Amino acid sequence: MTNTSFIIQKTAEFVKQTLKTAESGHDWWHILRVWNNAKRIAQTENVDFFVVELAALLHDIADAKFNNGDEEIGPKTAGDFLKSLNVDAEITEHVQQIIRHMSFKSSFDAVGFTSEEMKVVQDADRLDAIGAIGIARAFTYGGFKNREMYNPEIEPDFSLTKEAYKNSAAPTINHFYEKLLLLKDKMNTKTARKIATQRHRFMEHYLEQFYAEWNEIK
Ligand code: ADP
Ligand code: NI
Repeated sequence: MTNTSFIIQKTAEFVKQTLKTAESGHDWWHILRVWNNAKRIAQTENVDFFVVELAALLHDIADAKFNNGDEEIGPKTAGDFLKSLNVDAEITEHVQQIIRHMSFKSSFDAVGFTSEEMKVVQDADRLDAIGAIGIARAFTYGGFKNREMYNPEIEPDFSLTKEAYKNSAAPTINHFYEKLLLLKDKMNTKTARKIATQRHRFMEHYLEQFYAEWNEIK
């Protein structure tokens, strides 16, 4: 086994172990899907696979949402782990920068860092937020937060600021308009854009059916 595949294997084990008790929208299966998406997208991009795979594996290792809003906890946990495996400092730093800057909520901030590897991992994560799985994750998250599924009296807010997005307690259907339906046009790579088009269409059909059923008995 090469040193890089050994490090990737150790990282996967660490992530799987750490996320054992995570809620199901952010569990090991999410990481596995993002890792697979990332490898698929990377095939048509000129990127360092090692950085892409490490960042995909570690991108949700510690979420600020579940750690009193501490946005440095993810990069720090990832960095400490990679240092313990003696991963090259430059690679570790790059992985940390990706984790720090790739999230949807970071996209509200001025662009602080970008790289081809980050674009791939970001697309891989965004793909998992749309389509059938994205819908399942949104309702899982909403249930975890005890939110309503839908409330016809609460309009989606299209002009959310970063703080408002983070603090939003709106029904889960609103999240489609505030994030999920916007992701297709935010994809960085051609491969992800193509996959996103089909998943986006599925969400539109889903919403049509949802409203049709909601309004059936009147
Ligand atoms: P990011 O790390 O890109 O900011 P999140 O960690 O906020 O994304 O989201 C993780 C998952 O939970 C995604 O599938 C996302 O769509 C879902 N989610 C986040 N916020 C909400 C919300 N307010 N309502 C429903 N689902 C949500
Ligand atoms: Ni993620």
